[in-house]
Amino acid sequence: MQLGFIGCGVISTEHVEGLAELKSSGLETFELSAVCDIQFERAANFALEVEKRLGKRPAVYSDYRVMLEIEQLDAVSILVNHDLHHSVAEDCFAAGVNVQMQKPLAISPSFGQKMISDAKKYNRVLTVSEPSVLGAANVAMVNAVKDGIIGSVFLIMDYATVSLNRGFFAGTPWRHMKGKAGAGWINDHGVHRTHFFTEINGAIDEVFAYTEIFEKELSNGELTIKPTGEDTAVTVFKFNNGGLGHWMCATSAHGERTGGVWIYGNKGCLRPGQHVTLDDGRRILIPELIEKYASDIIKHPFGHSYVELWDAIVKNKTPISSAQRGLEALGVVFAALESATIGQPVKVNDILNGKKHKYEDTVFDEMESNK
Ligand SMILES: NC(=O)c1ccc[n+]([C@@H]2O[C@H](COP(=O)([O-])OP(=O)(O)OC[C@H]3O[C@@H](n4cnc5c(N)ncnc54)[C@H](O)[C@@H]3O)[C@@H](O)[C@H]2O)c1
Repeated sequence: MQLGFIGCGVISTEHVEGLAELKSSGLETFELSAVCDIQFERAANFALEVEKRLGKRPAVYSDYRVMLEIEQLDAVSILVNHDLHHSVAEDCFAAGVNVQMQKPLAISPSFGQKMISDAKKYNRVLTVSEPSVLGAANVAMVNAVKDGIIGSVFLIMDYATVSLNRGFFAGTPWRHMKGKAGAGWINDHGVHRTHFFTEINGAIDEVFAYTEIFEKELSNGELTIKPTGEDTAVTVFKFNNGGLGHWMCATSAHGERTGGVWIYGNKGCLRPGQHVTLDDGRRILIPELIEKYASDIIKHPFGHSYVELWDAIVKNKTPISSAQRGLEALGVVFAALESATIGQPVKVNDILNGKKHKYEDTVFDEMESNK
């Protein structure tokens, strides 16, 4: 099948790595036949990279609508800033093209709902390329926990802080503006985590959070911005099954960064990406988990995301990283943001059904003023 990329920025190269792994594993895969970026030179340089890695140079466009019209694409991967996810997806569906979306599914939950109904309306596939639940290691960890390796999960702790020295995350100023990114790092990075938490331990019921913007100005020397997305979020939550969580993320750290996730069950602890430690001190490493629980899954999370896209189109198979699961993960992030806005705990369902939207309204306002 023919694949197009819309957006050739920071993450696009890793997607090509994923496609390359599929090809070298002899698995059926898409041909990346067209790429598009509003910065034409970026797309042209990216096409050269694609040729080096995959052996064929894709056609280059600066207007995705033209690309959709000229090329006979079966699917596209949409790799643009969050405020464009829903509108670009709708144009693709309307052109008869299936979509793989980058996380977060949408800039906010109500746009996510719209995308899911647009996919239904046009009878097209919509998947989310969420690396935290894809690839052999992540699938193995989830399957192992579901198989009871650490007993029943009752506590998740996740601490992630990075130091930007008042610069831009990944060189991208848009990530700090809620009208482009939906929120600060709690959305961009946080949604990876909420997707993983809910994959491993089921739905989250309620969230309480404090959020702040501590760094009032960010700059790369040429451009200075006043961020509207939160740089610090401290959150507690409760799963439907009674388990508790403490999750925080910040781009405001100075001097030292930190990162660590602990999943505690009543028999042991999973350290994602590292190992499982059981009560008797026994350690089980990730390769062992992969062998037992995910030996048939490709290693590269983005490679796996294209297997999921292929299987959804050809076999009508529900992907692990479905749009619905992406929406639920986004709902947890927005429950935290809503909670910090109104000063009360917030049910995730009240976000998903649109009952609570004070924070989301501020995103709409900024999107409107950007027009
Ligand atoms: N690990 C991950 O899963 C991961 C990591 C990074 C980014 N992402 C996601 O990927 C997406 C892109 O992030 P990025 O870091 O590559 O951003 P980026 O800013 O580096 O790249 C976005 C690209 O989209 C282009 N673009 C903007 N509007 C366009 C349009 N209308 N038509 C065509 N091109 C357009 C921009 O010129 C830019 O080159 C975001 O949704 C982000 O959250 C996911």
